[in-house]
Amino acid sequence: MEKTVLARDGGTPVRTSPLPSVMDASGRRFGDDEVKAVERVLRSGMLSATWGTEAPALELEFADLLGAGYAVACSSGTAALHLAVAAVDPEPGDEIITTPISDMGTVFPIMMQNAVPVFADVDPITGNLTPETVAAAITPRTKAVIVVHLFGKPAPVRELRELCDRHGILLIEDCAQAYLAPVGDTFVGRIGHIGCFSLQQTKHISAGDGGLAVTDDAARARRMRLFADKGWPRDTDERTYLFLALNYRMTELVASVTRAQLTRLRGVVADRRTAAGRASAGIADLAGITAPPDGGDHVYWQYPLILSPAAGDLHEWAAALTAEGVPANGGYLTGPLYAAPAVRERITYGQSRFPLQDAEYPPGLCPNAEDLINSRLLVLPWNENYTDADVDDIVAAIRKVHSALAREA
Ligand SMILES: Cc1ncc(COP(=O)(O)O)c(C=O)c1O
Repeated sequence: MEKTVLARDGGTPVRTSPLPSVMDASGRRFGDDEVKAVERVLRSGMLSATWGTEAPALELEFADLLGAGYAVACSSGTAALHLAVAAVDPEPGDEIITTPISDMGTVFPIMMQNAVPVFADVDPITGNLTPETVAAAITPRTKAVIVVHLFGKPAPVRELRELCDRHGILLIEDCAQAYLAPVGDTFVGRIGHIGCFSLQQTKHISAGDGGLAVTDDAARARRMRLFADKGWPRDTDERTYLFLALNYRMTELVASVTRAQLTRLRGVVADRRTAAGRASAGIADLAGITAPPDGGDHVYWQYPLILSPAAGDLHEWAAALTAEGVPANGGYLTGPLYAAPAVRERITYGQSRFPLQDAEYPPGLCPNAEDLINSRLLVLPWNENYTDADVDDIVAAIRKVHSALAREA
């Protein structure tokens, strides 16, 4: 049999033209509606949501889409999570359990509110928190859990909600990567006490930056709204500031674009799922590679593959696939979030190390997470605008790299 020559070794790449990407118009769905939305706001002369109509309308539309009582618009996904932690209102030194595999926007809001992030280990295939690992991390100081639906795969939120209810703590869902991912007859973001979303450039829908938080609880919604606006109760006549808070307001421009994007969201999710189904079918027979587990609920922000040791070296895989014209990332992160200097070295407020002065985050803290990041998690960007031919190229590239790098069974 003829030996496959990988592009990295001078062979012909599977793909020479770039795949659709979220980094330019090829992989984003911005059309006339978004253009009209921006023009409408600009021509109105009112760009601030404090007096405008777009952000309030977006809040109603997003709450309606998810079947939530309230939605609060803000300036980023990180801000939405900060609003949520502010609604938990921890005492300094209280603990909030979360995952070591996510964007740091999941974790920094905990520290900004003077609480201590406690990292629980993840499932070795989905990379999501599990009820068992979270249960083992609960202490008398635990006030909440922030669960992430990594890459668009729902974490076991019903079980986590039961666990949180048993312990009298709150569940926050970080849905930045998982718009409209179904959980039974509802969506992620609706099982926890608060659900948080991001509108950053690479998400299912985007307005550049922006965030949304949903809840059914009127008091928490009000607290989040106040926290996004310096604690200023604008629904009263008073110009006063009720508690320590920042300006995390969304602008009217962002809100108007997001409203247009919302009408495209179901289509984006459906097309990402169709493309992923085709890819997973195309690689199902390859030994040593696990395609994303999909019980009809994965919304594929990215397309994560899990490599077994027999499949070959993770970083060689990422480089070889990228050379074939199919960008891939080995591990997603450089290290687990607790290994970042801000957390492990506790670089926080001056030299104080506060609120982490008594916390330690040694290597080996979450072995499954470290194994995924160091050796097993191969992440392919995913896109709603992939054609069948694009997906077939991705499959061909994976098969080619597999034939060269996987060890014989
Ligand atoms: C899981 C997760 N949480 C939080 C964030 C933070 O969102 P933002 O970048 O909008 O602040 C992101 C994305 O960046 C994310 O993917």
